[in-house]
Amino acid sequence: MQPGPVTSLSSASEYRVIPLEDNDFGVRLEFDTRDINSVLRICRDNIGSILEAFYAAHGLMLLGELQQMREQPRALVELSRLFGPEVENYRQTLTSPRFFHQSVDEILVLSNAPPCNHPPPPKATFASDNHSGLPLRFPHQVNWHTDQSYRRPPPDITLLLAVETPPSDQGQTLFADCTAACAALDPDRRRQLESLQGIHAPSWIGRSREAVKNHTPVLALLPHQLPQRHPLVRRHPVTGEPSLYICEEKQMDYVDGPVVGLETGADGAGARLIRELLSHATREEFVYVHEWRTGDLVIADNRNLLHCATWYDAESYTRLMWRTTVMGNPGEEYHGE
Ligand SMILES: [Fe+2]
Repeated sequence: MQPGPVTSLSSASEYRVIPLEDNDFGVRLEFDTRDINSVLRICRDNIGSILEAFYAAHGLMLLGELQQMREQPRALVELSRLFGPEVENYRQTLTSPRFFHQSVDEILVLSNAPPCNHPPPPKATFASDNHSGLPLRFPHQVNWHTDQSYRRPPPDITLLLAVETPPSDQGQTLFADCTAACAALDPDRRRQLESLQGIHAPSWIGRSREAVKNHTPVLALLPHQLPQRHPLVRRHPVTGEPSLYICEEKQMDYVDGPVVGLETGADGAGARLIRELLSHATREEFVYVHEWRTGDLVIADNRNLLHCATWYDAESYTRLMWRTTVMGNPGEEYHGE
């Protein structure tokens, strides 16, 4: 549990920073207004304090009741720009137009509805006794990832707005605090990991653990598909704190990795290490379960958090999320890239 009562950082008390209940990381920003232009103005005026609160909370911040953003999509981009130097433009990155907003190129659209047609994640096969009833820990939840870790440098922060949601007990997003998970490691173990690099790769190029296990033929890669190396223990460029930087087995390279210098392949020493670290980082005490309501915005730091989407009934409900991606401060090891 985080220490301290409700914190008001604004002298005019136009907003409050509130630690997430029953959770060791993450904060909620509460405003006295639902007017989107006023929320933007308050954020702009107080961005120094808001960023301080965001990083102190290990990079997880929730804002609620932003339903007006649906009619003013540019407001999401303007808010995103406060969190870093650059916001990804999906037209420029040649993303298929069916996956981004028809009038705002910086908004990625994630939905089971057409034209996107993303299927929901598979349903967990057993219930857990935590309050959400969901299994949280890898390997019972398998899709724990950090966004686009196959890029170099990888992106910094993801902002996710719930435009339309299924009931809140479906389609949750789980977040795991890899800074806390790193700090909980035995110091000797952490020192060993500090010298190692993971190899990350897009899930669709046939280098995932499953592809290698199934003896999928290894394809020649295009320059933009090349797997990328990142430290297993990554130092956060703002806080300086070390975090585990790992990814789901779909998004690492089991042909030449997943860990540089360790035995390769689906069941080699590298694979065993990634499984051990995923299982450690997603222990219940490091995980926050977000149950979405329409108008929720979650801001999550990809440099030190893992996240994971859960199943929802896509036959009965539409889930429509808008995502922006903030880039430009990946840390010293990416200097000049
Ligand atoms: Fe993601």
